[in-house]
Amino acid sequence: MKLHEESLPFHLCGNYAPVKDEVTAVDLPVHGAVPRELRGRYVRNGPNPKTGHSPHWFVGDGMLHGVELRDGRAVWYRNRWVRTRAFVEDAPSIGPDGVRDHTVGRANTHVIAHAGRILALVESSFPTEVTRELETVGCFDFGGRLATAMTAHPKLCPRTGELHFFGYSYLPPYLVYHRADPGGRLVQSEVIEVPGPTMIHDFAITERHVVFMDLPVVFDLGLAMAGGMPYRWSDEYGARVGVMPRGGTNGDVRWLDVAPCYVFHPLNAFDQDGAVVVDVVRYPELWRQHAMSAPKARLHRWVIDLPTGRVREHALDDRAIEFPRCDGRRVGLPNRYGYAVDTGDGADRNTGTSLVKYDLRAGTSVAHDFGPGRVPAEPVFVPAAPAAGEDEGWVLTYVYDAARNGSDLVILDGGDFAGEPVATVTLPQRVPFGFHGSWMPDEA
Ligand SMILES: [Fe+2]
Repeated sequence: MKLHEESLPFHLCGNYAPVKDEVTAVDLPVHGAVPRELRGRYVRNGPNPKTGHSPHWFVGDGMLHGVELRDGRAVWYRNRWVRTRAFVEDAPSIGPDGVRDHTVGRANTHVIAHAGRILALVESSFPTEVTRELETVGCFDFGGRLATAMTAHPKLCPRTGELHFFGYSYLPPYLVYHRADPGGRLVQSEVIEVPGPTMIHDFAITERHVVFMDLPVVFDLGLAMAGGMPYRWSDEYGARVGVMPRGGTNGDVRWLDVAPCYVFHPLNAFDQDGAVVVDVVRYPELWRQHAMSAPKARLHRWVIDLPTGRVREHALDDRAIEFPRCDGRRVGLPNRYGYAVDTGDGADRNTGTSLVKYDLRAGTSVAHDFGPGRVPAEPVFVPAAPAAGEDEGWVLTYVYDAARNGSDLVILDGGDFAGEPVATVTLPQRVPFGFHGSWMPDEA
């Protein structure tokens, strides 16, 4: 299979192309040994347009790919479309009045577990609840309390169990911050004032702060009317980060300028000596010419000095990366380690065959190269035990193997990252390149 057929956009070719079938397979073949501490499911979301076509990578119907691990076995693999109203009814997401219907979305970006619910997420709509077996339950709006879309990148505070998130919109209010308590009850919704409608994919929390990013990829009505991706780079908008004390309101947000750039994903953020440190995968610009034009992104650190109001920025690595993650127990706290996909130096997307593990304290990194034609996806770290050390556990990822046009779930040892995989689970079909996922232990 060629990676790029002439007439099709990249997201419909090669391993970006959707799969046609929903598959259930049990007792999967394993090379190596699945650690017995892994008892739960690894589930990852991504776009998989049911018609086989979509105008942009970001807008295909969500499909979940999950593997259950137990007793050293790979118990099952399943993939299921998220049966949203868009999928089932072809319901329009925007009404004749131009207002978005948040019960209609593609649910294609992330999947998380919180307060006993599993939620498939896309930033333009309400979450969609699914079961452990990846069957769709339906739209979830926090019992009617949620009045905006929900980002696909909520932050689960490991100290409090609260879920912090936000919704953004092309109509006012452009940005609304939300906080759910550990029981999943929405307890705060706060309009955050920003100058215009920008694409706000992700954000960050620390122990004491919430960090918003208002970056110059701006809604364009003309593009929206034309039916394409309605956001474009702006040289005029400027770029700012907003720091709000946890529990604060709009009036408490301090907005500080940063050099124009775009960030889909922070790796993590934490408080340090009166500053807020945010490690981000930074694009020097995004979607300037069209909604496919993206230069490579690199890991940078913002040090937001609160007393002076200045933001210092420096690169942490020369590699082109994406899909940064850290140990979920360190979200918002000082983290030593981080993980990411090395997206490679080629112009093609996702041609890299390595994952990277950063030691941010030592300023070093180590790569795990899966070999020619074997392309990894987002890495997810799973600790060996609740009190295990920060890299004492495993890193899980789906790896696409071009030679056989198939995929594996690969389990690496966090402490021996470059070493041989602990286990390689052969999946019954390829897993298209997608977005984000979570490890969901049985006890969650
Ligand atoms: Fe994302």
